[in-house]
Amino acid sequence: MTAGPSREPLDPVRYVSNRSSGRMGYAIARAAQRRGAQVTLLSGPVALDCPAGVTLVPFLTTRELLEQASALAPRQDIVIQAAAPADYRAREVAAQKIKKQGGEELVIHLVENPDVAAALGKEKRADQVFIGFAAETNDVLEHARTKLARKNLDMIVANDVTQPGAGFDVHTNIVTLITQADTTPLPLLTKDEVADRILDRALSLRG
Ligand code: CTP
Repeated sequence: MTAGPSREPLDPVRYVSNRSSGRMGYAIARAAQRRGAQVTLLSGPVALDCPAGVTLVPFLTTRELLEQASALAPRQDIVIQAAAPADYRAREVAAQKIKKQGGEELVIHLVENPDVAAALGKEKRADQVFIGFAAETNDVLEHARTKLARKNLDMIVANDVTQPGAGFDVHTNIVTLITQADTTPLPLLTKDEVADRILDRALSLRG
């Protein structure tokens, strides 16, 4: 299970990150552990306690997540990626605190990070089930289906983060479960309920 944002440093005191709270991923980790799974949770920096019985592996940057996830994925039956790894990082991390530019614009060059899900998807075995998330603001289903294929996922959980009750920093979510075979919209549910629906589908995909 991956959860939470990555944090890409700019200098010793600043970073680029995003609004992921980690709640959805932590809910899935907790639900899976309760069902008897051995759960490893790769987590970015979040304000949540690791669920009891779950092994926590912290990461900060997208590249750290890639390294840890690549090492762990071959040993997993099911890999669920709810993390929001930043797509870009600073080209150079300043060794010292960046000072005000005296009225001038500050320009920071960003370079693309690896796509963790796509990299893991390339190594996926036929006996494994890989699930991703797609947080979208427009053309939700279309973007999500493209990601399902591009990242070689078995299922993608799409959510429109502009809808009230969905997305960041709330305890509820409104998602659509998309596989190659079907598209299943779910109603407004708590993140714990969404976690259970995702795990039910994950198990049915394992056959
Ligand atoms: N993801 C990833 N590595 C990245 C970015 C995203 O592994 N660098 C994973 C997320 O964990 C999620 C899925 O890919 O399961 C979709 O993430 P999302 O941010 O919606 O998609 P992106 O591929 O970043 O596409 P875009 O930013 O263009 O929407």
